[in-house]
Amino acid sequence: MTVTIKTADEQDKMRIAGRLAADVLDMVGDYVKPGVTTGELDRICHDYITEVQGAIPAPLNYRGFPKSICTSINHVVCHGIPGDRKLKAGDAVNIDITVIKDGFHGDTSRMFFVGKPGIQAQRLAEVAFESMWLGIEELAPGKHLGDVGASIQQHVEKNRFSVVREYCGHGIGRVFHEDPQVLHYGSPGTGMELRAGMTMTVEPMVNAGKAAVKLLPDGWTVVTKDHSLSAQWEHTVLITETGHEVLTLGADAR
Ligand code: MF3
Ligand code: CO
Ligand code: CO
Repeated sequence: MTVTIKTADEQDKMRIAGRLAADVLDMVGDYVKPGVTTGELDRICHDYITEVQGAIPAPLNYRGFPKSICTSINHVVCHGIPGDRKLKAGDAVNIDITVIKDGFHGDTSRMFFVGKPGIQAQRLAEVAFESMWLGIEELAPGKHLGDVGASIQQHVEKNRFSVVREYCGHGIGRVFHEDPQVLHYGSPGTGMELRAGMTMTVEPMVNAGKAAVKLLPDGWTVVTKDHSLSAQWEHTVLITETGHEVLTLGADAR
């Protein structure tokens, strides 16, 4: 496992990329309304990233992914491909943005509700959000990756939801997905020890039903096997000497 330690200069570039990714989510929220297609959201984000931010949408052509953002609706766990699907009242959609600026990646996602969410969708998104933050709070020099996974898993399962195993957070920098793998389950004190200068994402996928997922024939879209709802939030985080710094905070600081 080769985990990169970012220099002070590289950390500054990660801060910029992280802020840009968060800015895209802040911007696109206003467009998440009944009747808009996920393809239109993709176009809006693509144009903003390329024309306003002078940045690159990392998903576009990444391992053959055809669009600039991921849009994952309801029982879609992650990597939903934007297209003709119109959002309708009651939908819960995760929008996942990754930008490259000056050679460095910023990666963040949030849940958005179209109209008024159902009670279960709301609770699921809330628990996924809380679990992401509990994981982030574990990030500090001397802590272990297992501490992150354990705190996420414990919170999710206490609430009788489940943690997806097949996909995880990741180191990030010049490379979109680099070491280490940041599992969203595990045991305290196990796994790699964290050091200042590491940058990684925490992005738990939480299912209302069972943890099992399946990949659709398009080769990207991941759905829950039991078609239960799924929710996800993601931040990119820098490990600092004293703890951590979240690089993808939105305007509302969360
Ligand atoms: N942004 C996703 C992540 O959090 C990865 C998307 S890869 C893509 O790691 F190709 F689907 F865009
Ligand atoms: Co990520
Ligand atoms: Co992402």
